[in-house]
Amino acid sequence: MTVRVSLGDRSYDIRIENGALDRAGDLLADYAARGRFIVITDKNIVPNQLYRLETSLTAAGIASAVEVLPPGESTKSWTMLEKLTDALLNYGVERGDTIIALGGGVIGDLVGFAASILKRGCRFVQVPTTLLSQVDSSVGGKTAINSKAGKNLIGAFYQPVHVLIDPTTLDSLPPRELRAGYAEVIKYGLIDDAAFFGWCEANGGRLLAGDPEARTHAITASVGAKARIVGEDERETSGRRALLNLGHTFGHALEAETGFSDRLLHGEAVAAGMALAFRFSTKLGLCSAEDSARVTAHIAATGLPSTLQRAGIEASGAKLVAHMLHDKKMAGGRLPFLLARGIGQTFLDKTVDLALVERFLDEERG
Ligand code: GLY
Repeated sequence: MTVRVSLGDRSYDIRIENGALDRAGDLLADYAARGRFIVITDKNIVPNQLYRLETSLTAAGIASAVEVLPPGESTKSWTMLEKLTDALLNYGVERGDTIIALGGGVIGDLVGFAASILKRGCRFVQVPTTLLSQVDSSVGGKTAINSKAGKNLIGAFYQPVHVLIDPTTLDSLPPRELRAGYAEVIKYGLIDDAAFFGWCEANGGRLLAGDPEARTHAITASVGAKARIVGEDERETSGRRALLNLGHTFGHALEAETGFSDRLLHGEAVAAGMALAFRFSTKLGLCSAEDSARVTAHIAATGLPSTLQRAGIEASGAKLVAHMLHDKKMAGGRLPFLLARGIGQTFLDKTVDLALVERFLDEERG
């Protein structure tokens, strides 16, 4: 299955194929003709996955070097960016070489950013190995590291030349991480595809239980939706791409409250954030109570948090709104919110009164 991201001369294909890692040598052969391969991964990547990729490159006669970084969010730092770019320069990287990001969102974001600045831009391929990175972060060219002032504040839009997704890498993903990634799958249904949300309600359980057919369908549909939206608004200027932030404003406040720690994974915060965005939309008289209840019920049914309480949040509305004021999406003293007129009818509202948000969150807290 191939999905195209259409961005003029920066267009690229996303290939979704069970076993793609074992065929990477063939699938990426075109790039090998132009230079060397350097694989960047982290210590948590199941050794078997790196082995599969390396074996397949070797079998195709492609020489590759490997750089292994420490796992975890703290790898998205200036220090690691410097270490990585130094390592690549020591290796003698040239613009014709291909840098391969094998891993989850941390590796994809860091390696993509390094590729964007190294020699003013080196070719890079995303090989995402978590559900979250397969359905969201590996597609669309957002790359970044974190700074003291916040997450993802230093970065660039820089598109990969190819994305290779092998859903079998999810076999070894911890169930909690799989579920967290699934929140971003649901998101695409809620944004503008009510039929896909219906599919999620009917098949989400199968996907989370590891059903290969459900998994591949969900990834392909998600990546198709993301490719379409990114093709319409690559740099998030028209408001189209901002739709992909559904649940992220409420979610960001919850992540900030939990110190961006393992207490609440990003996808879990997004799940609770989407349920809150729908219930807030209902409170504003925009969305039917039935649709909000469906969203809340499906999120809860998958074991993701659908309320503040289930997300382990006890903070007041005022405290959560204070976190929102540090959101990088703040513009001119206003925070754009993604609200919904119903399932599949998300829209951007730049005029939301934060006092209403605060009162709503206090009510949610009970
Ligand atoms: N994850 C949101 C975006 O790529 O725009």
